[in-house]
Amino acid sequence: MKVNFTETVLRDANQSLIATRMPFSDFKPVLEKLDKAGYYSLECWGGATFDSCLRYLNEDPWERLRNIRKACPNTKLQMLLRGQNLLGYKHYPDDVVRAFIRKSVENGIDIIRIFDALNDVRNIEVAVDETLKCGAHASGTICYTLSPIHNLESYVKLAKEIEALGVQSICIKDMAGIMSPKEGYDLVKALKANVKVPIVVHTHSTTGLGFMTLLKCVEAGADVIDSAISCFSGGTSQPATETLVYTLKQYGYDVDVDENICKEINDFFKPIRAKALDSGLLNPVVMGTQTDALIYQIPGGMLSNLVAQLTAQNKLDKLDEVLLETPRVREDLGYPPLVTPMSQMVGVQATANVLAGERYKNISKEVKSYIKGEYGKAPGKVSEELQKLVLGEEKPYTGRFADTLAPGMEEAKAYLGSKATCEEDVLSYIAFPTQAEAFFEKREADRKNTFSYTITRID
Ligand code: CO
Repeated sequence: MKVNFTETVLRDANQSLIATRMPFSDFKPVLEKLDKAGYYSLECWGGATFDSCLRYLNEDPWERLRNIRKACPNTKLQMLLRGQNLLGYKHYPDDVVRAFIRKSVENGIDIIRIFDALNDVRNIEVAVDETLKCGAHASGTICYTLSPIHNLESYVKLAKEIEALGVQSICIKDMAGIMSPKEGYDLVKALKANVKVPIVVHTHSTTGLGFMTLLKCVEAGADVIDSAISCFSGGTSQPATETLVYTLKQYGYDVDVDENICKEINDFFKPIRAKALDSGLLNPVVMGTQTDALIYQIPGGMLSNLVAQLTAQNKLDKLDEVLLETPRVREDLGYPPLVTPMSQMVGVQATANVLAGERYKNISKEVKSYIKGEYGKAPGKVSEELQKLVLGEEKPYTGRFADTLAPGMEEAKAYLGSKATCEEDVLSYIAFPTQAEAFFEKREADRKNTFSYTITRID
């Protein structure tokens, strides 16, 4: 049995441990080794990398991608894309989604992992369609969550719908690290029995289940697993690549990843890790195991957000009440997976309900949009009472939300004029307007500081 590895150090590990603040110049020298290590793919783009490049690192994200491509000609490059939301949380019109994907592939992406926070397949279908049209690999995604309406049957049904879009693989995305070894094993078994495409498993080490879960998923037939080179693994990041390679080889699995090259890659990242620890960018707390998420069945990150919110308002004594209210709000909203932005939406509303001493006295703008159908279809039934409170006698929108949006590319192009030097710039602007404009200005200023000259031949 073959097990393939996706290395996440350049994207999810970087995002989960050091808030995506690793500049290209830091990891450039190791790209050649990453390309030779025998990974199935390198997750290196999308997610928060794009925003972070523009906002904090003064890097053109497209240029970063082209540079990685140049240095890694032999390994598939992978990105994470939030379906119709691209790299953010709002819905973009189809022409923008298609242009973004076309340019991602043109600049070097081979595999696009496409997900929707609500597992609403309509929110990933255009992205999948365009990825396939561009000749790239579309990996459809199941956001894994626990609730009374999520079970093997519902996940198999979802996987079949995703497979019907024509994807080349399906990823189980356990963003909170709450999928147990047993749940992972059962789910992979069920999917392998019902869909034909390869199954990818993505989890996090947050609760400490990660290694066990991945091992059991592989036993159940998972084809690809995500891992991070050891010194950027563990805690809120992925389980360690070397440890998994060691274990799986011992069990006789066919693994292409080369331990010796892994050692060199890890040695390369050690000083980068040490520097991040020194500067405080890497907080030792996120490296540990946090099991509270298993008791409350909510992601660790969400729990710490709730604590922070209550602490800021000097109301930490209300934490137990908020923790009881959180699953009730989630139930009212039809059990959305607790992934961004739903995790914040549920947590903030639960806190508001407790602090006001009255449920839904104040309702956040986001919850209102959600009830109106602007995020997509709720996985389960939304509370009728809450629906009435927000909509009165109106009915929620049940279509695909992007169908209500006017095309966006031409308008953005016209607005930017000469500030945009290429279509990639226009897409950067659409994705992150403020950050992109600031970046363009700085780039223009830098450009004016350089000089050029013509050669006068003297011969
Ligand atoms: Co992740």
